[in-house]
Amino acid sequence: MLFQQLDLAGHEEVMSILNDLLDDAKSQRFYTRKKFTREETLFRVSEEKLQEVMDGKPGGFSCHSLLKEPSPRLEELLVEEFEKNTDLSYKEVVLQGKTFYPKESFMSWHTDASEPGYILYCSYAEEDDQSFFRYRNTDTGKVETAWDKRGWYFRLFEISAETPLWHCVFSDTIRFSIGHRFIRH
Ligand SMILES: [Fe+2]
Repeated sequence: MLFQQLDLAGHEEVMSILNDLLDDAKSQRFYTRKKFTREETLFRVSEEKLQEVMDGKPGGFSCHSLLKEPSPRLEELLVEEFEKNTDLSYKEVVLQGKTFYPKESFMSWHTDASEPGYILYCSYAEEDDQSFFRYRNTDTGKVETAWDKRGWYFRLFEISAETPLWHCVFSDTIRFSIGHRFIRH
């Protein structure tokens, strides 16, 4: 399976745009929806829950989706980096979404597999080892957990209906992510 990390932390213009978006999101002071207990939150990102969702049960979320306002310059730069760092082809780029995770929030298992292509997630975590991106490896079927360190991450993975990449997010700190979808020909 394709799961690649891009190293864009040294890219000044990318970082400056992302940090502005992050500041803007933080200033909106999102709260954690108390609908879910901590136990329930952790269950929603568990392997057991994955099985339930694969069987058709809803996954749910307690994070906040932000307005889908595109940032044209950021998109331009990400396209440049995508082309520089991979030899993958695509026909179109669209903003997948922006998500803010307050402390103790989650996005349960899903695949994003409506159209075949690649998703590049730029994600930020406020603290070391307090949040993760968890996914089911499409080659091995094993569930793997990528814990975040403080700072920005750039994760690129393939999505398709034939081999859906199941993934979810848990955060016990402030976490923010912006996804761009590179749609395949
Ligand atoms: Fe996703």
